Amino acid sequence: MVDQVTFKAGGNDRAYNVLTGSVGPQVVDIRKFYAETGMFTFDPGFTSTASCESALTYIDGDEGVLLHRGYPIGELAEHSSFMEVSYLLLNGELPSGAELDTFKSTITRHTMLHEQLMTFYRGFRRDAHPMAIMCGVVGALSAFYHDSTDIADPTHRKISSHRLIAKMPTIAAAAYKYSIGQPFVYPDNSLSYTGNFLRMTFGVPAEKYEVNPIVEKALDRIFILHADHEQNASTSTVRLAGSSGANPFACMAAGIACLWGPAHGGANEAALNMLHEIGTPDRIPHYIERAKDKNDPFRLMGFGHRVYKNYDPRATVMQQTVRELFKELKVTDPVFEVALQLEDMALNDPYFIEKKLFPNVDFYSGVVLSAIGFPTTMFTVLFALARTVGWVAQWNEMISDPNQKIGRPRQLYTGPTQRDYVTVGKR
Ligand code: ACO
Repeated sequence: MVDQVTFKAGGNDRAYNVLTGSVGPQVVDIRKFYAETGMFTFDPGFTSTASCESALTYIDGDEGVLLHRGYPIGELAEHSSFMEVSYLLLNGELPSGAELDTFKSTITRHTMLHEQLMTFYRGFRRDAHPMAIMCGVVGALSAFYHDSTDIADPTHRKISSHRLIAKMPTIAAAAYKYSIGQPFVYPDNSLSYTGNFLRMTFGVPAEKYEVNPIVEKALDRIFILHADHEQNASTSTVRLAGSSGANPFACMAAGIACLWGPAHGGANEAALNMLHEIGTPDRIPHYIERAKDKNDPFRLMGFGHRVYKNYDPRATVMQQTVRELFKELKVTDPVFEVALQLEDMALNDPYFIEKKLFPNVDFYSGVVLSAIGFPTTMFTVLFALARTVGWVAQWNEMISDPNQKIGRPRQLYTGPTQRDYVTVGKR
């Protein structure tokens, strides 16, 4: 442990305090660096920069550890529920039985959408990607709920948070229904959060829908695995958008836009597409060679992570979830066999060992989601649904932080220096 770090700048020594969290690397406090040295620090991609203080989620990427409010993800996935983890992330502690019941009933009471919002869907083409619809409809929530827009008021923030968590399944299911030309299914408050989502997605008004408890449990676990993940790209986007005091629904739409990219939430869709393209185990070596070839842009999707340089603990649970679901539903999928053999081959290949590339959460999530019946275009939507809890909790934490400022990174300018304007005829 060190207390201070000294920089030599222009012949002067400048000492900067080192901050210590409850666990994890120490952090050099460079807030006065520019004022004292006239220099900025340079860190594209924020690989060495802590952008905020947070008490929500801790990751040790080298050891493959992920804790929410101190609780390991494996224990939460095995024993908890998505509603309980949501309460934990929002409030800091696990709820009592009565607190959990109250929370569930509050969320349940917010599941319906303003009826006018349903007309938004009809403005989209039927073949629109559901993430495009999610961006639009979630952003549009900001035009509907005017009674809770004072972000300085904790009660307003709480109401907005509950609305977002509760309405996201309804919005996501409606995006799916619209894409397949079926009528929207309204929420049924007698069902669990996850059961309700399954019914709104796969049920039709003409028939009674029975929620399969095995599928409900597996999907609830998938939601837990995606609930929060520290200062990832979409969460940082939500924080940055929210740092200006922007409307919370608009901030979530910004998070959804960021999550959509194939290097982030879109990787589960890309990973399953890749597994289908590989098709049979005998073709795996060819794809491993392609992933290693510097002249080929192909990468093994669902492999590698900015933070995890060890097995992503969520991937462990995800692989176990596939096994359990397949066993209980008595189904098989040749793609799962391809995934297992691909993982095995990559983990024994010097390229992947040296670069510390392991399966991430997205490697197996596509296999399990498609076994449940979701089309690939819905995978990132499900991720957004679950991650909404993390975005909301992180946004709340940021607004409550007395040290919070508008986010404003600096730059290393490499463009032209000042020059005189030349009129068009003289150029
Ligand atoms: N396949 C082959 N090589 C890879 C892969 C991969 N999946 N991932 C990284 N590498 C190689 C890179 O080519 C690079 O090699 P080099 O040092 O010889 O240039 C080295 O490993 C480091 O990779 P970077 O891209 O610099 O690492 P970074 O931390 O910036 O990227 C990322 C992490 C984007 C996740 C990357 O591993 C990747 O593209 N993986 C595939 C996409 C994916 O699965 N994304 C999901 C992330 S998890 C999530 O968002 C929930």
